[in-house]
This record gives sequence, C-alpha cells and structure tokens, in this order.
Amino acid sequence: MSKPRILVTRRWPTAVEAALSEAFDTTLNQDDVALDAAQLRDALLSYDAVLPTVSDRLPAALFEGEAVRSKIIGNFGVGFNHIDIAAAKAKDIVVTNTPGVLTDCTADIAMLLLLSVARRGGEGEREVRAGAWTGWRPTHLVGTKVTGKTVGIIGFGRIGKAFAQRCHFGFGMDVVFYNRSSVDSAEAAHYGARQLPTVEDVLGAADFVSLHCPGGAENRHLMNATRFAAMKPGAFLINTARGDVVDETALIAALEQGTIRGAGLDVYEAEPHVPERLRALENVVLLPHLGSATEETRTAMGMKVMDNISAFFAGREPPDRVI
Ligand code: DGY
Repeated sequence: MSKPRILVTRRWPTAVEAALSEAFDTTLNQDDVALDAAQLRDALLSYDAVLPTVSDRLPAALFEGEAVRSKIIGNFGVGFNHIDIAAAKAKDIVVTNTPGVLTDCTADIAMLLLLSVARRGGEGEREVRAGAWTGWRPTHLVGTKVTGKTVGIIGFGRIGKAFAQRCHFGFGMDVVFYNRSSVDSAEAAHYGARQLPTVEDVLGAADFVSLHCPGGAENRHLMNATRFAAMKPGAFLINTARGDVVDETALIAALEQGTIRGAGLDVYEAEPHVPERLRALENVVLLPHLGSATEETRTAMGMKVMDNISAFFAGREPPDRVI
C-alpha cells in the first residue's frame, strides 16, 4: 500500500522532518516561506494530510467544493483559530493540535514579558546597545516591584495554571483569575490562585493582567477600550495567547494616554505586522511569537503531530483530536 501523501507547510525541527519523511510520502517546505491561500487550497486538493502552523490561514473558502483530498489537518501548535473548524468538520476532515508540550515554555515567556515590562528591561537594553547609558543613578529607569503585587489571569487552562504557579510560588504574587467554567477552589489553591466571578472583577484587582484564553470568535477583542478603562491605574497587560483577544487599536490608545502603564506582547492581531504606533512606544516589550520556541518544545510539538497523523492513518483515534 502506498504511503499517505503529506505536506509540511514550514520548516520543522530536523528530527521531526526525518521521522515524517521516513513514515510518509512527505513534501517539506525547504525555503520556509509561508504558503499563500492558493497554495494552501492546492494542498488540500492534493495531499492526504496537511500539517500547518499558526502562519497558515485556512478560512472556509479553502474547503469549498467536492475535490478536497485531505482527510486530516495536523496542526503544529495548540491554538487553532487560524483554521475554520466548522468548514473542516463539514468536509469530515479531522483536525488535531499539540496540547501539553508547550505549557511550561509559554508560561515562561509570559513571565519574561511581565518581568521585562515591570522592570523596564527592554528600555534598558536599548539604551546600553545605543551606547547611551551614562551610569548608575538613583532615578534611572525605575520600574515597578513585582513581588507582592496581584496578577490577574484570564483563562485558567494549562498555561494559565503554569503561569499562576510561577507568579505565586516563584515571585510571591497574589493570583486571581477569571475562567468561564468554575474551577474547584482546592485545585486553584494548588496553583496559589483564587477564582473571581467576572473579567471585570479581575481587571479591578490586578496590577498585571495576563491573557491565557483561546483566540477566535468567542474571545475576539475581549480586551477592548472599556476593559482597559476598567484596569487599575498603573496596571500592565501581558498577552501570550492570541492577538485577536486584544483590540490592538484600543490598546495603543490606552498605552498612549496612560490608561494602562505598559504591555508585554508576544502575539498581534495581524502577524507578522506590528503597528508602527505600537513599535514607537517605550512602555511595551514586543516579542515575535516566541511562546513555544525552545528546541525541546518545538521537537515535542512536531512529534505530537507525527503521533496524531500516524494514529489516524493506522485507523486509530488521534490522541489530540480537536474535531
Ligand atoms: C501555539 O501552539 O498555539 C503557538 O502559539 C504557535 O501556534
């Protein structure tokens, strides 16, 4: 029997590409240039499996018509709001993701952003690199103390919990969170955290607000102008979730007007575009979507995709099936 034809849309860690090439009739993307809509459409018509990443947009239009060949989309990443899940489901296409293996690294990046923006690490680094540092002085780049402050987490899934644990047990912070469903208080206490009934309750209590909910329609612009106004004066926003959870225009206005004190961002509304007005601000720390970017995690993510499509083509249930 011939091996399933699969397409890997970007370069993946070498060990994973080798394993996929061994097990399947695999097409790799040697140049690592993101595919456009026509190429992705073509991929769905020509391959048994397409293995995309967050940089591949798969809207409903790409699934239209009778000729779609793909039976499974093995997404490299836990978030899948770049794929129109309903359209895939309508075509009986299985979609899988990679939960669990990027929890710690993404929580670490959230912590990195929180510390960097509170302690003005980005500004300090820029100053030293520019040769502009004139020496130690008591009033130089004075930031905000983290220990003892309150962090408010929106979304208490795996990454939200790992972040809570770091904040409470690592940095002596009080942790409150909002989650759509109720979390057992003993479980929350295990992470040093306490659930509050509404997003507004969290915004009103937190010195740092960190987003850990999924992107997509349900949470689109969850952080808008009204919600920035509801944050404590002098508070900071951290976003390692998805860019569309934040109304970026409202965020820029809140930062420019001093409604909030600063932001640490790893994700943006229209990646890789980052608005010039945002890049011009000193009170933001901006990373290029690095949440899961460690050798260990990126390899583990790839191997998870491999497990999912291997199970599927062997007639077994893929372990990380989304639909
Ligand atoms: C994820 O896994 O969701 C990362 O953000 C990359 O897509």
